[in-house]
Amino acid sequence: PRVLFATPEVAGFAKTGGLADVSASLPRALAQLGAAVAVVMPYYNAVRRSGQPIERTPFVLPVPLGDRVLACRVYRSLLPRSSVPIYFIEHSPFFERDDPRLGRGLYQQVMLGGYRADYPDNAERFIFFSRAVLELVPHLDFRPEVIHVNDWQTALVPVFLAEAYRSRPGYNHLRTLLTIHNLAYQGIFGRDVLPLTGLPGWLFNPTQLEYHGFFNFLKAGIIYADAINTVSPTYAREIQTPEYGYGLEGLLASVQHKLTGIVNGCDYEQWDPAHDPHIAATYTPDTVVERKPLCKADLQRRFDLPVMADTPVLGMIARLVHQKGIDLVLSAAPGFLDLGCQIVFLGEGDREYHDQLQAFRSRHPNRVGLYLGFHEGLAHVIEAGADLFLMPSRYEPCGLNQLYSLKYGTPPVVRVTGGLADTVVNATEENIAAGTATGFAFHDYTASALYETVRWALTLYHHRPHHFRQIMQTAMRQDWSWNRSAREYVALYDRLCQTVARLQH
Ligand code: ADP
Ligand code: GLC
Repeated sequence: PRVLFATPEVAGFAKTGGLADVSASLPRALAQLGAAVAVVMPYYNAVRRSGQPIERTPFVLPVPLGDRVLACRVYRSLLPRSSVPIYFIEHSPFFERDDPRLGRGLYQQVMLGGYRADYPDNAERFIFFSRAVLELVPHLDFRPEVIHVNDWQTALVPVFLAEAYRSRPGYNHLRTLLTIHNLAYQGIFGRDVLPLTGLPGWLFNPTQLEYHGFFNFLKAGIIYADAINTVSPTYAREIQTPEYGYGLEGLLASVQHKLTGIVNGCDYEQWDPAHDPHIAATYTPDTVVERKPLCKADLQRRFDLPVMADTPVLGMIARLVHQKGIDLVLSAAPGFLDLGCQIVFLGEGDREYHDQLQAFRSRHPNRVGLYLGFHEGLAHVIEAGADLFLMPSRYEPCGLNQLYSLKYGTPPVVRVTGGLADTVVNATEENIAAGTATGFAFHDYTASALYETVRWALTLYHHRPHHFRQIMQTAMRQDWSWNRSAREYVALYDRLCQTVARLQH
């Protein structure tokens, strides 16, 4: 298949979370399977400063926005370690405002008082980007069959394609796939942004663009895309229920015929303790027992904690938002300290969590390590050095951090939801006996369920070290590489293209 992959972030250029990892690795894996693929994202400051070699293309795209047509330049590079072209859409007033030192990100800024707020013109920014994606199509060095879009920022591409581009030459055969990485972010705006799209007002109705009086980008994408997927089979089922559907459960259940779940992969070129340049000692399943302790000592040192080999270290890396279960960890944490643990946090996000974590750390400076901010290298140090990885998410479309911790022999402690349910095998007595256990899992979203699970893990850690070691090594030997998932995407694209062929005959 020939695929244009449109995304708001790509690791190595600009990243806020797992979507960036997926956007860097999936296209590369697709290319390795023989697909023709190109990636497109906005040209942020972060891209400019990424240190990657980027060149300006001669194309100038005419991008309609409201009653204006903006001329937009396009830059180009390659996805690192690949020959996959990546295009950057330039429009400096929209995309060159991010700067972590000034508290400005890709989608949000930190306000006076420390609160984060979406940029007021996010609708305009991503309407513009989505149109630019479609304008880029004729300039690619291949003719795409599928445009694969990701999350609300690109969800209007299928809408524009159907309503404004379909009759143009070069567009009529195109099919669209929308991947939902996180249903909690839908891109909900006032009706007043509709004129920016140039779409006719009558599309603003509940079966197309409207959601309870608002313009909902993701909903519109769900309706218009030829196929939809989420990043795990369990999450694909969960979002059809009120608990996880964020109001779209009814719509999602009604489109189940075009909704599937494909688990994300893990990029083992970036995340493999056997050759990770960020960690103190590299290791494999065969050397983990001797070498991981060196990583643990390094982790304790980096976080100014006493270097103690026998003290279990719990690690957590997350965007500090409602989704990730930080409230559970904070309530259970005094209990973890009573169990003799050290705890290390790396994260960035909502002000309340920053404050609570900081307060917790200052109460227990010798037991708690904390880095508030984004730090790629430290993420690797924690994955390698911790004894257990905490990921008690309220919901988790897929989750990549648990895949990394499996690979690093750092058994994840997860809540059974979404991709966590699909990727971690709980250390029950049966699974331990069968040699299949890879981590620790609990169901109820309560601090006590989390606490009891960590307590069980520590029982094994202290009193049944051979079983704990077996879990670590089984986890490390799992294969969550992109290869399998990329094949599932290829099959999905092929199905979409066949529909085109059928329609044309
Ligand atoms: P989500 O996409 O919901 O944030 P994932 O587990 O899928 O969750 O992916 C998170 C990605 O972002 C991982 O690569 C993780 O290491 C990284 N990450 C999150 N927060 C930070 C941080 N503060 N510093 C460095 N990396 C981070
Ligand atoms: C989202 C989800 C996360 C997923 C990532 C990549 O950010 O929260 O679970 O792994 O997207 O698909």
